[in-house]
Amino acid sequence: MIKVDSENPDLSKIQIVANIIQNGGLVAFPTETVYGLGADALNPSAVLALFNAKNRPLDNPPIIHIAEKSAIYPLVAEVPPEAELLMRKFWPGPLTLIFKRSKNIPDVTVAGLDTIAIRIPKHKIALQIIKQSQRPIAAPSANLATKPSPTTAQHVYEDLNGRIDAIIDGGATSIGVESTVVDLSGDKPVLLRPGGTPFEALKKELSTLELHPFVSSECDLSLDKISSPGMKHKHYAPKAEVLLVEGNIQDVVNKIKELSKYYVSKNMAVGILATDETYSSYVGHVIKSLGSRFNLSVVARNLFRLLREVDSQGVDVILAESVSTEGLGLAVMNRLRKASCYRIIKAS
Ligand code: TXA
Ligand code: MG
Repeated sequence: MIKVDSENPDLSKIQIVANIIQNGGLVAFPTETVYGLGADALNPSAVLALFNAKNRPLDNPPIIHIAEKSAIYPLVAEVPPEAELLMRKFWPGPLTLIFKRSKNIPDVTVAGLDTIAIRIPKHKIALQIIKQSQRPIAAPSANLATKPSPTTAQHVYEDLNGRIDAIIDGGATSIGVESTVVDLSGDKPVLLRPGGTPFEALKKELSTLELHPFVSSECDLSLDKISSPGMKHKHYAPKAEVLLVEGNIQDVVNKIKELSKYYVSKNMAVGILATDETYSSYVGHVIKSLGSRFNLSVVARNLFRLLREVDSQGVDVILAESVSTEGLGLAVMNRLRKASCYRIIKAS
């Protein structure tokens, strides 16, 4: 574990991890969204080790991180005009774009697909590692597959200690949910994963952009609708069973109280993910507030940390309140729906 100041990174410490990456090793580092686990994207055995360290299925490719726009050209087959537009407006930042790939990329890095996911992170440590290692860096979120993504170095340590070469501790990440993924490789631009860049902001620049049906859906759609490998794998799931309660807020609070009574009567320990506005309605149990439901950036920042915290209290079931799907709320609700494996209860 190497502590690095995220505002003013010590270049000699960054050089240590750049050398590890160049030698085929694995390093976890902060980005503005979540911590990533980095490997040299052009080194097939390093990328294979990356999949192994995370227990990640080989059919789910990582995002490739670069430090400047010109670095996309060796990685992609073409740059559509929509990409130019979005890159100019949103890079560096929490937006990943899917391009047709170039043949220079090892197959394992793109899981054998003919497309590639790329972004420029907006974080001094991440950018400096990419620059000093002089490689595009493959970096999925630095959690064990199926666990909530890590927003602190401690989360990475809990999941990956002993499985990777180093962790850079640059403090808690500021956005807290992963990047938004937009596919520009097909006929029409499609948002595949809601994340740190709101759909509304993207739509303003690119009016043809649509949400993939899987993103807006409240249930697990059939497999033929899948166009991102990440959609079909279990995700963000704590040890406890998560139930997401959706509806008007007073109904949600009443439903959660009723459900907790029921689980307590079955001798089960209950955790509740509440918001500042509802927190005091609940008694007993392990109760955490995600923040104000009117400040969804704060809710997004707290989400994965609190899922881990509630889970570590040894509860059997976590009852989570829904929030609005506006702005970063769409990413929050998408992660909660997945964490609950689409066990969604409508309160009325
Ligand atoms: O914010 C983030 O994006 C973080 C930080 C570390 O940058 N990274 C991250 O990576 O979330 P990961 O690997 O956990 O998620 C990558 C997502 C997965 O859902 C994957 O299926 C999708 O991007 N993806 C990668 N390559 C793809 C491709 N060629 N086509 C469609 N989806 C792709
Ligand atoms: Mg991930």
